[in-house]
Amino acid sequence: MAHHPLAQYLDSVPDFPKPGILFSDISPLLKSHFAETIDAISDLFSQQEWDEIDCLAGIESRGFIFAAALAYKHKKGFIKVRKPGKLPNVAASIEYGLEYGTDRLEMQKGDGSKIVLLDDLIATGGSMGAAAALCEEVGYNVYGMACLIDLASLNSFKYNDMVVRSVIQFND
Ligand code: PRP
Ligand code: MG
Repeated sequence: MAHHPLAQYLDSVPDFPKPGILFSDISPLLKSHFAETIDAISDLFSQQEWDEIDCLAGIESRGFIFAAALAYKHKKGFIKVRKPGKLPNVAASIEYGLEYGTDRLEMQKGDGSKIVLLDDLIATGGSMGAAAALCEEVGYNVYGMACLIDLASLNSFKYNDMVVRSVIQFND
């Protein structure tokens, strides 16, 4: 059960992409309430925090949507955390387990900037945790992590004692 008003625009699709998975489709929400969604993620950080943040890092592919929009809104830089084989000059990569299967993320070299990592959704936390570890390995300073939807909020995912902030939480 989710209580945030934006949750009503999500579409829950049973057995996608595999049997037993209840897929939370953000497509209708992005189509009808994109600006409100970006503003809601923005409000997870105070103005003082935004002043300290240098860049937004998005996890390919759905994380790009939110990180790019927030980078524009706050006039910050945008950094890509990419799936394998897409990026030149890769400085490091990390393999991680997904809710369904395994995958790898790659990044170019960092420069010590303070970043906030963005994704659409936390399920197991595997993607966010791997991306955070990779950001630090290539030389960024992970200042915060945020997502639109937290499916695991009862045992909420942490990285180095840092909680992932979220707009919509599903508690059952
Ligand atoms: C999905 C989702 C998150 C991740 C959440 O990405 O967008 O990134 O899984 O699961 P986790 O918390 O268990 O890691 P996926 O790689 O499936 O697809 P995408 O390219 O559409 O973002
Ligand atoms: Mg994803």
